[in-house]
Amino acid sequence: MQTKRLKDDKNGIVAAAKILKSGGIVAIPTETVYGLAASAFDDAAIEKIFAAKGRPQDNPLIVHISDLSMIEQVAADFSGKAEELAKAFWPAALTLVLKKGKKIANSVSRGLDTVAVRMPNCEVARQIINETGIPLAAPSANISGSPSPTSYEHVIADLDGKIDAVVCSVSSEIGLESTVVSLVSNPPRLLRPGGITPEQLLEYLPDLEIDKAVLEELEKGQKAASPGMKYRHYSPKTEVFLVEAEDEAFYNFVNSKKNAAAICFLEDEDNIIIKTLCYGKKGSDKEQAKALFSILRSVDGLGVGEVYVRAPEKKGIGLAVYNRLIRAAGFKVIRL
Ligand code: TXA
Ligand code: MG
Repeated sequence: MQTKRLKDDKNGIVAAAKILKSGGIVAIPTETVYGLAASAFDDAAIEKIFAAKGRPQDNPLIVHISDLSMIEQVAADFSGKAEELAKAFWPAALTLVLKKGKKIANSVSRGLDTVAVRMPNCEVARQIINETGIPLAAPSANISGSPSPTSYEHVIADLDGKIDAVVCSVSSEIGLESTVVSLVSNPPRLLRPGGITPEQLLEYLPDLEIDKAVLEELEKGQKAASPGMKYRHYSPKTEVFLVEAEDEAFYNFVNSKKNAAAICFLEDEDNIIIKTLCYGKKGSDKEQAKALFSILRSVDGLGVGEVYVRAPEKKGIGLAVYNRLIRAAGFKVIRL
């Protein structure tokens, strides 16, 4: 299959919508990461997404809407906290897990009776949904297991020849995926940290619980509240370790390594003698989030056997950065 390159202008948006309406799959920009979209009402189109990504069969998709009036086609119940959160945050990097509406294809939720839904804060994404006139199911537009794509070049590197088209737009502003909150759990539960922080959510959900899988590996046989959280993810081929350490301890540790590289903060660079990649300033969770996936994608090009990543602070979006990094590291954490 030849993957069409579409522009993010009116013509490109109309062309993308045409493909989506006729059962095709199209990679689209969003403010979090690029998504691989299909009609949320079309089982056959959804299955094409799973095939193109090599996605585990039990991992459900997020449905994207462009306008609050679309929510009744997606969720069976949208009252109370759901409505309050949507009005406070959307369009945003916030995904709500709600009771599934009847029109949503079964293949979207993979057998669950719930549906994850968000309204992206990306003009081009909303225009594509609006032009299609149908809610769009979209996971991140990468091969399953590899770092999520924050540019159309990343999408092409993973999926060229496997999808109908890609809408080529700017790099994703946030750089990691949306926050997923389940409102069918009581109390409400943070299933995946992301662009909207727990601190922001606590104002509306004072009893919000953080799911154990956010910061720890699930034990064998334990059921994941969010199926996606149980897989190894975001990993380069090079072996990754996450290192929690103060400045000097980190420098001494990585400087003693051979055939290795360090992923560190900008301020660390001058103190490290092995190869480095920087993922933003030490105090800037936003910079770290934006740079992370692109840097993980470039690790294999360094030609080293191992990479040691300096752990971020688990505050603000930093919690999401940490969550992605422990998965990239296959839960191998070194505490010095
Ligand atoms: O920012 C994002 O959320 C991006 C963009 C494209 O919107 N999408 C994204 O999708 O990250 P994906 O498939 O890579 O991650 C979806 C996550 C998975 O961890 C999945 O298990 C969870 O959401 N999820 C989806 N439906 C769910 C449901 N009904 N209950 C619990 N978790 C659900
Ligand atoms: Mg993903």
